[in-house]
Formats: sequence, structure tokens, C-alpha cells
Amino acid sequence: MKKTLLVVGYGNMAQAILTRNHFITSHFNVLITGRDLQKAKDCIAKCEIEAQIYTPQYRAIADSKSMDSKPTNSKAVLDIQDSIVLLCTKPKGLQSFIFEGKAQCVYSVLAGVGIDTLEKQLQSCHIVRLMPNIAAFSKNSATAFYHKSYTQHTDSKADTDILAFLESFGKAVSVDNEALIESSIATSGSSIAFLALIAESLIDAGILEGLTHAQSQELVKQTFLGFATELATKSPNELKYAISSPGGTTIRGLAILEELGVRGAFIKAAHTAAEHARDSKK
Ligand SMILES: NC(=O)c1ccc[n+]([C@@H]2O[C@H](COP(=O)([O-])OP(=O)(O)OC[C@H]3O[C@@H](n4cnc5c(N)ncnc54)[C@H](OP(=O)(O)O)[C@@H]3O)[C@@H](O)[C@H]2O)c1
Repeated sequence: MKKTLLVVGYGNMAQAILTRNHFITSHFNVLITGRDLQKAKDCIAKCEIEAQIYTPQYRAIADSKSMDSKPTNSKAVLDIQDSIVLLCTKPKGLQSFIFEGKAQCVYSVLAGVGIDTLEKQLQSCHIVRLMPNIAAFSKNSATAFYHKSYTQHTDSKADTDILAFLESFGKAVSVDNEALIESSIATSGSSIAFLALIAESLIDAGILEGLTHAQSQELVKQTFLGFATELATKSPNELKYAISSPGGTTIRGLAILEELGVRGAFIKAAHTAAEHARDSKK
């Protein structure tokens, strides 16, 4: 019998993970929820998957700042008993829900929200934190993940299920310290945007040299594809020196990039992004 997968949130990351994800649809009855059910419906249509809307009950809650503690607000109540849960809201979105029951497994993509915080909000046999990237759309995400029992090898059935779920949208790399989830913002979580900046720069460079935008874009796209394939079997260092002949063309370009501090700029940008994610739990 299929298990229930309750997806909370329907933004870019939820869509990237769910889009044409045949592993997920063949293993789970998918339910999607959030604070705007029309957006959840739109998400199902965009992702081209079989899924249903989960309509939560609402419960009035007392405003802690109100002196007389009268109910002034309400929260969506989600029944997660025996379900698999995929949390895909912005970090602050966690507070919008009341989770009832005990889930079998909770996967959280929320940057900066630690397992200690998640455990205060919900109960689950397993909690997995993951940092995917937007290439999950094409099932090519580089996903760092942390799960206590995975690193201790105490539950091999759970380990197998978790890896199968995470690898349904790309390659998953286990980290043995939860703090390294935010560190992976530097290598993979945010780095697609950094690489997009390089791609844009090279397209502009091609135009400056006289190529049309279409020609330049096509050449750069294919270069990225070729680069990714070569990188699968060679180190960046090997690739760099394979095309840098002594006193030649490519080494002159590399010298300019080093003079302008491009390497340091990338490291600093990636560090700043990771630091911001660490702070978002505060
Ligand atoms: N994008 C990436 O490359 C990436 C990579 C790794 C991890 N992440 C993580 O993925 C999560 C979602 O990011 P995203 O890129 O998918 O963002 P997004 O496209 O802006 O979607 C945000 C989602 O969070 C919901 N949300 C926001 N504030 C909420 C609140 N107060 N209460 C309830 N729901 C709320 C939104 O619902 P409404 O539309 O109704 O507000 C929407 O479903 C974040 O926690 C982020 O850290 C993203």
C-alpha cells in the first residue's frame, strides 16, 4: 500500500522536487497543502504529477501578547500521523502550522531551521534535513542531507528509504554534522545562481567579440554541459592545465581573473550566503 506524502509549501523548491517525479508518485499518495490552496492547485498542474489538495482545519490560538489571552488568530492544523512529510515553506512558515500525530519521516528543506527547532513543532520517527538546489527540476540536484541514524548506520531500512527519496531528484551527499547543511549553501544550495552569473558574463563576452546573442548563448550552454561531463571524471585543476599552454592564450585570461580576485570573490560570496542561512533561524 502506498504511504501518504504530505508536502507543505508549493514554491520553487517544492515544484523542483515534485516536477515529473515518477519515484514519488509511484511510491506515495501525494497531498499538497499551505496557506493558499489555490497556489497548491497551481503547483500540482505545473508539476505534472498526480496529487491531491490537503485542506486543513483551522484552530483559533491565543495571542501571547494579548493581556487577556483571547483567541485572536488561527493556525492550520495538519494531521501527520504515520505520514511522510516534506516541509518546503520559507523558514518562518513553520510557525503557520500545528502538526498533530507522529509522522514516520519528516524531510525539511528549511535553511537555518535545526532539528531541535523542528522537534519542538512536530513529532516524527525520523527527521532529515536537506539542502537541495534548483536543478531538482531536471532531477540533477546536488543535495546535502543530515539524518542522525544515517551517520550512525543504526537503521538500514530507514537509510535505504531516505536515500531513495532524496535521489529521486538528484545526487544526495550525507553530512555527519548538522551544521554542514548550511555550509552546503556554498557548494550547491546557492551556487547555481553564482554559475548563472558566470554564464551571463561569458555570453556578454561573446557578444563583445562580435558573436550574436543567440550564437553566444548556444556556445556557452554547450560549454557548461561539456564542462559538467568532463568534471565528472577530471579535477578542475586537470581541466585548467589541459588547456593552458605555457605563455599561451588561456593562461593570460586566467592571470587577469586572478589579478581581479575572482577566486576570493566567489569564496566570500558563498560564505556570506551560508552565514545568512545560519542566521535565518533567529
Ligand atoms: N530555492 C532554492 O534554491 C533553495 C535551495 C535550498 C533550500 N531552499 C529552501 O526551500 C524553502 C522554500 O524556498 P523556495 O525557493 O521554494 O521559496 P518560494 O518559491 O518563495 O516558496 C516559499 C513557500 O513558502 C511558503 N511560505 C512563505 N511564508 C510562509 C508563512 N509565513 N507561512 C506559511 N507558508 C509560507 C509560500 O507560501 P505562500 O506563497 O502562500 O506565501 C511558499 O509555499 C526555504 O526554506 C529555503 O530555505 C531553497
